[in-house]
Amino acid sequence: MTEPTGNREIHTIRWENNTAILIDQTLLPATYREIPIRTVEEMWEAIRALRVRGAPAIGIATAYGVCLGLQGQTYTDSRAVIERVNEVADYLATCRPTAVNLFWALDRMRRTAQAHASLSPTDLCARLLEEAHAILREDNETCRAIGRFGGELIQDGMTVLTHCNAGGLATACYGTALAPLFSAHKFGKRFQVYADETRPLLQGARLTTWELKQHGIPVTLICDNMAAHCMKIGRIQLVIVGADRIASNGDTANKIGTYGVALAAQAHKIPFYIAAPRSTIDRSIPSGNEIPIEERDPREVVSFGGISIAPDGIRVYNPAFDVTPAELIAGIITEVGILRPPYKESIQWAFSRDPA
Ligand code: MRU
Repeated sequence: MTEPTGNREIHTIRWENNTAILIDQTLLPATYREIPIRTVEEMWEAIRALRVRGAPAIGIATAYGVCLGLQGQTYTDSRAVIERVNEVADYLATCRPTAVNLFWALDRMRRTAQAHASLSPTDLCARLLEEAHAILREDNETCRAIGRFGGELIQDGMTVLTHCNAGGLATACYGTALAPLFSAHKFGKRFQVYADETRPLLQGARLTTWELKQHGIPVTLICDNMAAHCMKIGRIQLVIVGADRIASNGDTANKIGTYGVALAAQAHKIPFYIAAPRSTIDRSIPSGNEIPIEERDPREVVSFGGISIAPDGIRVYNPAFDVTPAELIAGIITEVGILRPPYKESIQWAFSRDPA
């Protein structure tokens, strides 16, 4: 498939002929390439290597990963299918630890298998594929609702800062933190965006600017260490970022560097918002202290584009996420509305709306 241009939307993951097709995000923006993923092992690798990334997209990818893991085997009865679902889900659960959408999607696939144990093995596998399609479809609707609620925050003349990539590429199609921007743009609001480059893997520079350009939204790229300065000189009026896991009290894990952006925003009295679906909220944990933080390969920090940028053998610490305390967050934009502090109560309210 050719690269989307103009206002054409991205389809991060699709299913075709028993194969998941992903945009290989490690190659963007230089190369737009879709890659076929035919086995659960290939899906595990694609998620670990960030070919597909962003919390909701990882959830969708793992759901399809379960379906891939079911293929190529014969099952005597539905019990054997359920056993295989559990085996494949346990395996996929090891690929990345922080984004809770991955575990949410795997639980949903496990529960679907259990709930349809009376089906024949063939029908049960078909039902599980239908569930993966439903997760993708619902993500698209959810992101559009986030866009509608969050779009209200954007006023003519504003500049909005975002960090990492929480756009279409991080979801099925429409994004979380970028959804309010797409929605406001559609309604003719005139604003611009500053995108943090997001070291070490440059999701902001490579992916967010690429997506905003596709949509015709004016975007300026800055290095991560320029954000506080831009706030100080009055260039930023609003911050919207995505999330990988939100605890019951509103503490939020997102891409490393988000916490620093939130602190700078507080110092300059700039509202800092999280945009995320309810599937990113982990009600099983009371606070951000319980969120596991992924540590990644030191080579991501000491080399760039295959070129070494630090002395050989240097010690490296490479956490992929940090946790922003709830008190720095002005609101959490979800598909059921903008949640406000105190988050313990507003999160409960969000889940009382209808089943998530
Ligand atoms: O390591 P990544 O690229 O998967 O990290 C992505 C982020 O931190 C996003 O902001 C988050 O997953 C939200 S995506 C809608």
